[in-house]
Amino acid sequence: MAIIGTDILTVKKLLEAGEVAGIPTETVYGLAGNAFDDDAVLKIFSVKNRPQFDPLIVHTHSISAVSAFVRSFPKKARQLADAFWPGPLTLLLPKSDAVSDLVTSGLDTVAVRIPSHPLTLALLSSLDFPLAAPSANPFGYISPTSALHVDQQLGSKIPYILNGGESQVGIESTIVGFEGEETIVYRLGGTSIEAIEGIIGPVAQVVHSTSNPKAPGMLKSHYAPRKPLFINQLSETLKCYPSDKIGSLTFENVLPELPVDHQRILSPAANYAEAAKRLFAYMRQLDTLPIDVIHAELLPEKDLGRAINDRIRRAAVRGE
Ligand code: TXA
Ligand code: MG
Repeated sequence: MAIIGTDILTVKKLLEAGEVAGIPTETVYGLAGNAFDDDAVLKIFSVKNRPQFDPLIVHTHSISAVSAFVRSFPKKARQLADAFWPGPLTLLLPKSDAVSDLVTSGLDTVAVRIPSHPLTLALLSSLDFPLAAPSANPFGYISPTSALHVDQQLGSKIPYILNGGESQVGIESTIVGFEGEETIVYRLGGTSIEAIEGIIGPVAQVVHSTSNPKAPGMLKSHYAPRKPLFINQLSETLKCYPSDKIGSLTFENVLPELPVDHQRILSPAANYAEAAKRLFAYMRQLDTLPIDVIHAELLPEKDLGRAINDRIRRAAVRGE
């Protein structure tokens, strides 16, 4: 069983010995291992039950440390790094030979991020290797935003979870890549498109495919609760289920049709950051309530509302 604690030195020793551990980040908790140790990387895939065609993000503590594992750092990438690191932004950069194909699933780019959580930054600074870390959830399930979430699902398979409290951003990092002159957002996340465009101008966005490893991370069914989730179909859902068997996930609205204790309101004040922070914990709560189905409402398509809607839409896709 995992120990849940705040002892960075213990985690450092475990990671140096090739073990994996849960680590806090400002976005979601990660399942970390030495990115330069193939056995540790394989352990990550197996603990998460993740297919090896889905590459991992490499986490480090400083922009200068990134140069050890990338071949180049395009100007726009550098501008974004300067603006948003440490923070919820992942950059796809040309990988150097230091990074094995296991980490990148054979792609010639490596996903790199400097997270802003102080415990994890301290841990990364104490190590002489970067950490490969996917979100610390079983493949396909909702990402964890607390040490307890990690323990509930992976606790029996890992030795230690570094407890950094509740993740402050609450949704994963935004993933940005560069092709020629173009900047492409591959995954919406904790850094909004508006903020990115404010630094480097217009960006393109990748449309999600169902299972194309060339656009990894874009598997449509993701972040999924186990209960069926329907978007904006309350009146239809009420025809099929008694109201006390329906739970809801809304931005700011209270729904008079449903029992109050089955409703999760992301932000009564309609604040996007607050909504993002609560999203995954609320999805988990809805999954454990005595209900049969979840009714979800989308947020306005702006700011972090876009990334939140992306997670809600994927939660509604089943069986892909
Ligand atoms: O906020 C986050 O990014 C969290 C924390 C722990 O840092 N990590 C995270 O990792 O969300 P993960 O593995 O759950 O999602 C990373 C996504 C995957 O969907 C993967 O396909 C994509 O990043 N990815 C990794 N390397 C890539 C690459 N070279 N090209 C395209 N996509 C890549
Ligand atoms: Mg994930």
